[in-house]
Amino acid sequence: MSITLNTDHLKGFISDDEVKSILPAIKKAHEDLENKTGQGSDFLGWTDLPARIEDSFIAELEQLGKDVRANSDCLVSIGIGGSYLGIRSTIEFLRDAAQIPVYYAGHNMSVDYVHDLLETIKDKRVTVVVISKSGTTTEPALAFRLIKEALKKKYNDEELKQRIICVTDANKGALRKTADKEGYRSYVIPDDVGGRFSILTPVGLVPLAIAGVDIKALVDGARQGQEEYAKMEMANNTCYQYVANRYLLYKKGKVIEVLSSFYDNMFYVNEWWKQLFGESEGKDGKGIFPASLIMSTDLHSMGQLMQDGMRNVFETFIEIKKSKHSIAIPEDPEDVDSFNIIAGKDLDYVNKQAYKGTASAHFEGGVPNMTFTLCQADAFHLGQLYYLFERAVGLSGYLLEVNPFDQPGVEAYKKKMFALLGKK
Ligand code: PA5
Repeated sequence: MSITLNTDHLKGFISDDEVKSILPAIKKAHEDLENKTGQGSDFLGWTDLPARIEDSFIAELEQLGKDVRANSDCLVSIGIGGSYLGIRSTIEFLRDAAQIPVYYAGHNMSVDYVHDLLETIKDKRVTVVVISKSGTTTEPALAFRLIKEALKKKYNDEELKQRIICVTDANKGALRKTADKEGYRSYVIPDDVGGRFSILTPVGLVPLAIAGVDIKALVDGARQGQEEYAKMEMANNTCYQYVANRYLLYKKGKVIEVLSSFYDNMFYVNEWWKQLFGESEGKDGKGIFPASLIMSTDLHSMGQLMQDGMRNVFETFIEIKKSKHSIAIPEDPEDVDSFNIIAGKDLDYVNKQAYKGTASAHFEGGVPNMTFTLCQADAFHLGQLYYLFERAVGLSGYLLEVNPFDQPGVEAYKKKMFALLGKK
């Protein structure tokens, strides 16, 4: 078990009896996931995806990555939501894993952002991966137009064909049409995996392989996750324990969950997690609001609210046991700041005491909290964590009696925007 869950700081908020009382509901939700008998069961392809990914496909993508990197200075990954967040969270979490710079587009419509991106890539050899399941999402569609136009100025049709890779639906949608018509290389997003669950489909694997990330380790971690979390065994299943605890907290009025960690490279993992939980649970007037903090930075801005604000919050910490590097605190002859008491200690030791102090202070201040601990910040553990949260939200949606696999609410703003734009 390479990801552990510590629930000491739930004491007094949730009892063992309460956990026992919801076991039948958890069992039912588990069976609905396994037997595909719950809401949205057409979108359960992610449940056994890790085990279904062929090693030969991973090897094919690794070769693609080598080939692309040999003639590219950078990768531009175009996509939004589920076609963006998992890619960025993986690359940023792993810090130095990308072997070429990766730029993102299609996740906003800020003209200044796009202008600066076009300037940045102007004199570089660029490969573009455009990812859109529907093919009609406004942001990536417009970014693709603009970037393609810029590339047309420097590449002829033949070279452009080598430099554009599409990840989209097998048969339908605007991007599929374009890929087929123009002869772009393309990879298929399976029909039964929704955007926010798609990190282990070509949506994530293609750009990550091109960037040079160890996708085999990522998939192996997810396989480990499937092995550990797809079982109805509460005692050893930290994923299902997490689901039970957060559901009980929600029922007691803790309607906000804050995913907190003391590592800056968690920022986009938090963003990925927010989409996964927000889009899956937030419907029919229900759902836990997913928020996130990066500490200790945010302790100096949001710490007051966490410690002392409205008690409608619970917290889930992500702790990383072993950091990659080690830096000792130097001795200062004058000791003006009085920190010589920790001279010689590793900075990570201090960071960990900050975490322990915060978890304990928030608990005493009325914020129940739990902690997932990952052995280290590598691709394997990230893959496992992705699967853990995917499984958790599937189960949790069924406990809340919503369809965790649709997102009808996302259409409302689009309708208004299209009306304003005069688009049919
Ligand atoms: O979860 C979802 O389905 C959405 O948030 C999508 O991820 C997002 O809108 C991107 O969609 P597409 O890949 O179809 O462009």
